[in-house]
Amino acid sequence: MTAPTHVVVVGTGYVGLTTGVCLAHLGHRVTCCDIDERKIDSLQAGRIPIVEAGLEELMSDAVAGGRLEFALGNDPAVRTADVVFLCVPTPQDDDGSADLTYVRAAAVEIGPLLPPGAVVVNKSTVPVGSFHLVGEALGRDDVSVVSNPEFLREGTSVNDFLHPDRIVIGAEHDEAAKRVAALYESIDTEVVFTDPTSAETIKYASNGFLATKVSFINSVAALCEHIGADIAAVAAGVGLDHRIGSQFLRPGPGWGGSCFPKDSRALVSIARDHGYDFSLMRGVIDINEQQYARMIHKVMAAVDRYGHDRLDGLVVAALGLTFKAGTDDLRESPALRVLDTLAERGAIIRAYDPTTTGELDAHRAERLAEFELVGSVKQAAQGADVLVVLTEWPEFATIDLQAVSTAMRGAAVVDCRNLLVPFEVRAAGLNYTGVGRR
Ligand code: UDX
Repeated sequence: MTAPTHVVVVGTGYVGLTTGVCLAHLGHRVTCCDIDERKIDSLQAGRIPIVEAGLEELMSDAVAGGRLEFALGNDPAVRTADVVFLCVPTPQDDDGSADLTYVRAAAVEIGPLLPPGAVVVNKSTVPVGSFHLVGEALGRDDVSVVSNPEFLREGTSVNDFLHPDRIVIGAEHDEAAKRVAALYESIDTEVVFTDPTSAETIKYASNGFLATKVSFINSVAALCEHIGADIAAVAAGVGLDHRIGSQFLRPGPGWGGSCFPKDSRALVSIARDHGYDFSLMRGVIDINEQQYARMIHKVMAAVDRYGHDRLDGLVVAALGLTFKAGTDDLRESPALRVLDTLAERGAIIRAYDPTTTGELDAHRAERLAEFELVGSVKQAAQGADVLVVLTEWPEFATIDLQAVSTAMRGAAVVDCRNLLVPFEVRAAGLNYTGVGRR
């Protein structure tokens, strides 16, 4: 029995931590490294700093089984690594291009430390062509680089890792590709072997298409409002076509998060840099920006201030702050885009989200400083002129509408996620506005 592969994961965000924990769960020996001492201390104490279903249990099993450890810094772990996963952030520059500072810095640092024959895996979403950047930064000709993009959704990343629709491996050398594929051999799924550039393009094209589906259904919802059709029936009827599929056809306030906005803009930027105007993707992004504005108009109309600029004195009960349900991530949240605008126009925002009722870290507290954070739907509704549903948390679908109606000062409900039943809202004496609903 050959010694288990020693995998080192650089970066313990939701991609790195999920990758490290799941690879350990699959039986490999894993060291997860990060430069953030607080994060490493928290992980070594068995606490995970993010909301990911099932991750904490798998992590404690792997640590107890001696297959997973955490380290501050990449040295000395990488010195004995067979495979190193780069899972560092690739934030977005102002012009939409991806900022590779962290990827380059990690590669420069670990290059001299790697044992001969090691394989470095690009896991972070990196622009097409950056594969060579990592190779150059490593400065070694006796190690190889493989692109292995992730398709993890926040909140369900463990399930997505262990039950992927496919594994994509982009490499210039078959031996390195096979070494990476071997890490996943206990997962029963399709493995796509290709060149690095195609592998990176698969990731961007996948996210770009998913964002296109959501922008498309949001546009159809707008059309439904004009022609009197019902988006739920239309989306159901369209989604039953097996060539289309029903997922990512839920209308909402627009798409957000740490990936779609970044990856869709990067796709346009990469295309532009290579002489192609990806006008469809630009349109998808524009429609998403318009969707946020459509939500503002719905609120203005619901409180009879349509056409006004200001909302001074208006009290908004906001249900949901995160960019989607199942995560605590506020990055590029559509809910915050809508609420920031309402606050700029003078509205008072009283917000409840299941992930912001406890102690907030400094960054989150600062991001939400403009809003009054409360601990329940009822507290948010107290004295409110309008109730706005912004994140699709399941608990919002079963709120006590009679209690909300009694607590509110006004009677307007704007349901940006179509979670509520219009008839029930009206039966509680409230006025209902949805997205694409009659
Ligand atoms: C996405 C991709 O799904 C994942 O494969 C990739 O690896 C990372 O980016 P994530 O950003 O976690 O994952 O969120 P996702 O579940 O895709 O949702 C993105 C946004 O679209 C959210 O704001 C969500 O609320 C919105 N959305 C999604 C809709 O408005 N309607 C839908 O039907 C689906």
